[in-house]
Amino acid sequence: MRDNGSAHRADHWWQHAAIYELYVRSFQDGNGDGVGDLPGILKRVDYLSSLGVDAVWLTPFYMSPMVDAGYDVAGYCDVDPIFGSLRDFDEVVAALGGRGVRTIVDLVPNHTSDQHPWFIESRSSRSSRRRDWYIWRRPSRDGGPPNNWLSQPAGSAWTFDERSGEYYLHSFLPSQPDLNWRNPEVRQAFQAIMRFWLDRGVAGFRVDVADRLLKDPSFRDDPLNPQHRSGDPEFMRLLPVNSSDQADLQDIVAEFRSVLAEYPHDPVLIGEIYQPGERLTRFYGEGLAGFHLPFNFNLMWLDWCADGVLDLIQRFEAALPDGAWPTWVLGNHDQHRVASRLGAAQARVAMMLLLTLRGTPTLYQGDELGLEDGVVTADRVKDPFARQDPTRGRDPFRTPMPWDGAKFGSFSSVEPWLPLSSIDPGLSVSFQLADDQSMLALTKRCLALRRREPALRSGMWDGVSSDDGVLIYRRSCEQSQLLVALNFKSERSEVRIPAANAVRLISTHERCVPGAIDRNLELLPDEGIILSISE
Ligand code: NOJ
Repeated sequence: MRDNGSAHRADHWWQHAAIYELYVRSFQDGNGDGVGDLPGILKRVDYLSSLGVDAVWLTPFYMSPMVDAGYDVAGYCDVDPIFGSLRDFDEVVAALGGRGVRTIVDLVPNHTSDQHPWFIESRSSRSSRRRDWYIWRRPSRDGGPPNNWLSQPAGSAWTFDERSGEYYLHSFLPSQPDLNWRNPEVRQAFQAIMRFWLDRGVAGFRVDVADRLLKDPSFRDDPLNPQHRSGDPEFMRLLPVNSSDQADLQDIVAEFRSVLAEYPHDPVLIGEIYQPGERLTRFYGEGLAGFHLPFNFNLMWLDWCADGVLDLIQRFEAALPDGAWPTWVLGNHDQHRVASRLGAAQARVAMMLLLTLRGTPTLYQGDELGLEDGVVTADRVKDPFARQDPTRGRDPFRTPMPWDGAKFGSFSSVEPWLPLSSIDPGLSVSFQLADDQSMLALTKRCLALRRREPALRSGMWDGVSSDDGVLIYRRSCEQSQLLVALNFKSERSEVRIPAANAVRLISTHERCVPGAIDRNLELLPDEGIILSISE
């Protein structure tokens, strides 16, 4: 296996950081309207700092008609009143910063809302000054859409504009028209937006649908996806090789990076990129001038077994260009919750995995509590994706934080915008804070160990084995060595470990820790263990 020691140097803060995706709408309501907001975050700063994360990524709080929960921006430098004000934002950055927690914000450059003044102007006539800021095309010969590109959640990616007699492109909803990133004015506008937020102290950006910004300049059809099965989402019928993922994207990312380089506080650039490992690594860019952290979502799609996870990590580590820093994700507001995908017991194993891999982990709000997908009945649905296809709604993954056993979990004083995911008070923050064996306690222990152990923060990663459903890997640096053993099965297991002297540091289970261990390690069903070793 490739030696990952060359990437051992970790000079940037974001290489040592654990990031928390804070889904603003569902974190804490501060003004009693049932929707989470910036003043709500201020009330929970203690929670975030005691959790032990180093940065939060705030989902969009910008001016928006909220058709796609804020991913349809109508004003990039304004806070939507539903979330508070710019002053509230500044207070959040200052309060978190005062506790050593940085603030990363979402940048949504692929599309705007159709209510954005840029699009209103662009749409007004074919000769509008901003016509070329968006992607307009004549109808094809039969009067239909210019090509076969598909939108998420479903249907053609083109909508006909009666007034001007042309189609505009939208990779998502018709109310989210795609910007034309081949137009230099669009690029300059976003550089100004980035500077606006960087001047307010943000520590970086998570770039939404980062691999879609550029499309094939000749608008060729996308080819059929031979692996598409009936039941798969419609947009997966085609391989989006022309509607996304163009090689010259790296010029745009380099421009983003040069804006960041104007700031001495080392801001980070994270890309939302749904690509398999081998393709994903290209997004680090030539000479590593690309994304610092192209999100790696591949653990989310895998059949959850020790062999598969070991193989995925090994292949990814081997594919990483020199100097590229890995990053891992287990959940976000667009995907089923980890605890629903894997079950409560394996969700604990998964958390231990996430926080002990080499590279920067991003935790999704609520996963530290082991929240499951909520039940959102048809009358409460908010996600437009669910309106197109009820099986693809993302509301169940976005339900509010249960802070305690009070009504609405103290998330809000009124009925929240989405129902809470569980009425089980055992899942609430206050209950779990009082329970040393809770998922929250485990998450905090792993985060705390990560902070104090250089082997976890920046040490090498070596896969040891995946026999009998138990994944074992080593993390090591000059000062220390750790072994992580994760039992992916709900049966006891006994494995040989490659160390004569080992001390148990953390278990996912109730154990008297620390405990010394000889070469035979016994694991309970669904147990994960972190050991300190010396050979
Ligand atoms: C990815 C975001 O995470 C998702 O929630 C949103 O609907 C799409 N991008 C479109 O912006």
